[in-house]
Amino acid sequence: MNKKVAKLVILGFGVCLVVLVCMGLDVFLRAIWLMLPAYITNVSAAFFGGKIPIDRGIFWGKTRLLGDGKTYEGLLKGVSCGFGFGIFQQLFFCDYIKLQMPSFGPFPSFLVTLFCLSAGAMLGDMLGSLIKRRLGLKRGAPLPLVDQLDFVGGAWLLLFIFARDWSLKTFTLEIIIAVIIITPLLHLLTNYIGFKIGRKEVPW
Ligand code: CTP
Ligand code: MG
Repeated sequence: MNKKVAKLVILGFGVCLVVLVCMGLDVFLRAIWLMLPAYITNVSAAFFGGKIPIDRGIFWGKTRLLGDGKTYEGLLKGVSCGFGFGIFQQLFFCDYIKLQMPSFGPFPSFLVTLFCLSAGAMLGDMLGSLIKRRLGLKRGAPLPLVDQLDFVGGAWLLLFIFARDWSLKTFTLEIIIAVIIITPLLHLLTNYIGFKIGRKEVPW
């Protein structure tokens, strides 16, 4: 399995390189920059983990509602880290050193944007688990694409509801395509690292 994952990651980097060449480095970097608060949220939830399940052990039919992989601690630490990192991106890089990267909006609306990105990521992650449990998949069982993109869907859903103008202006079609291609690859890579350093039970 490890070799398979390693091959996937290498293949992923190949695809990334092709995307990079086709779309241009600028689009690639802007896509990562914009999704970074959601990425940090997801990685931090997995890194810190937790004990108290959000579904409180409740069953829906024969299977758990969400499962033990979705905890309150993971949720709170994930959202705090992603939201906090986003504020740092905005205040330091966008406003202070004026880095040529898209802004999350003026004060105070960037707080809404960042909340959508971080809380939405955790919402999407929970919806992903809900779908997996409904399909009868145990905690940690792989469900390709849902595992890698559920949090992106959640973040975009909240953005579309609460920060529509900013989102429609900022997430151009090429950025959306870049995010959909880059995210699963980054996700696989970080999960593999998490698995290697013993923070994750499975490498996906
Ligand atoms: N995690 C958490 N709380 C959350 C989200 C994630 O504690 N709200 C932690 C859990 O330790 C979880 C790990 O992050 O095991 C990895 O998250 P994920 O891959 O989404 O969960 P899985 O364990 O794979 O469970 P599922 O099958 O439901 O996706
Ligand atoms: Mg998982």
